[in-house]
Amino acid sequence: MQLIDGKKISAEIKVEIAREVQQLKDRGCKTPHLAAVLVGHDGASETYVAGKVKACEEVGFKSTLIRYESDIDESTLLNTVHELNRNEDIDGFIVQLPLPDHISEQKVIEAIDPRKDVDGFHPVNLGRMVLGLPAFISATPAGIMELIKRYGIQTSGKSCVVVGRSNIVGKPISILLSQKADPGDATVTLCHSRTRNLDDVVRASDIVIAALGKPGFVTAGMVKEGAVVIDVGITRVKSDVTKSGWKLLGDVRFDEVAPKCSYITPVPGGVGLMTIVSLLKNTLIAAKHEIYP
Ligand code: GUN
Repeated sequence: MQLIDGKKISAEIKVEIAREVQQLKDRGCKTPHLAAVLVGHDGASETYVAGKVKACEEVGFKSTLIRYESDIDESTLLNTVHELNRNEDIDGFIVQLPLPDHISEQKVIEAIDPRKDVDGFHPVNLGRMVLGLPAFISATPAGIMELIKRYGIQTSGKSCVVVGRSNIVGKPISILLSQKADPGDATVTLCHSRTRNLDDVVRASDIVIAALGKPGFVTAGMVKEGAVVIDVGITRVKSDVTKSGWKLLGDVRFDEVAPKCSYITPVPGGVGLMTIVSLLKNTLIAAKHEIYP
């Protein structure tokens, strides 16, 4: 069994990005600039956004954090999105989800200029991705593809199961893995809460992507010998043991599943760290106008 080390790979990618940022600055180009909009005080969102801002500093990006209380009007938030679209110093921005119930996430996402949509959530970017055209790919699926690439994991012709059909992870990763590409060319089954005989589908798969957000859902009995298991779950639960008072739980029972795997990602230290570097990569791509010249 080989551990897929998201900590090591994400650190390597940050070094690569920092080197490229320095080269851009040396050539007199502007510093890549990511903005993040955070509404309310959800603990998990606070942690994620703080991680994104810190990562910007580490690679030499500029970052701007815009905060609003959770009772902000939808129209005020939409105005902020329009301002960020127009602001020429900002290369890309994200609006951290989830948003309060009185704000339409879809309306907000669709207001973002696709050229600055470094989360890859806008229908234009998702549509382009489905067609195999250059697009901003959302950070978690992009991070998973990068791990697969860097570990040389073969996907062509393999059976792959994605458990969970979210717009952010399950749907896009199922499309990326089935695309005519390397990595890609897998035979993908997308499972969800209505899937019958889910255990059997998972047990028949060479590659398992667990992205449903249910701690410990994938057990050893569900995984075939030699499978590749990618755990996208990051459920935050209270803990007396950690300094922060929280710990992260994956969707896979790591201790019992790992001995059966050829490769497995841990939680924490797996996919989560890749999500942040993929966002940085997308911001660099936006700054260089590589997708939308
Ligand atoms: N909430 C959970 N994951 C994400 C993400 O990747 N981007 C944004 N904007 N919100 C999220």
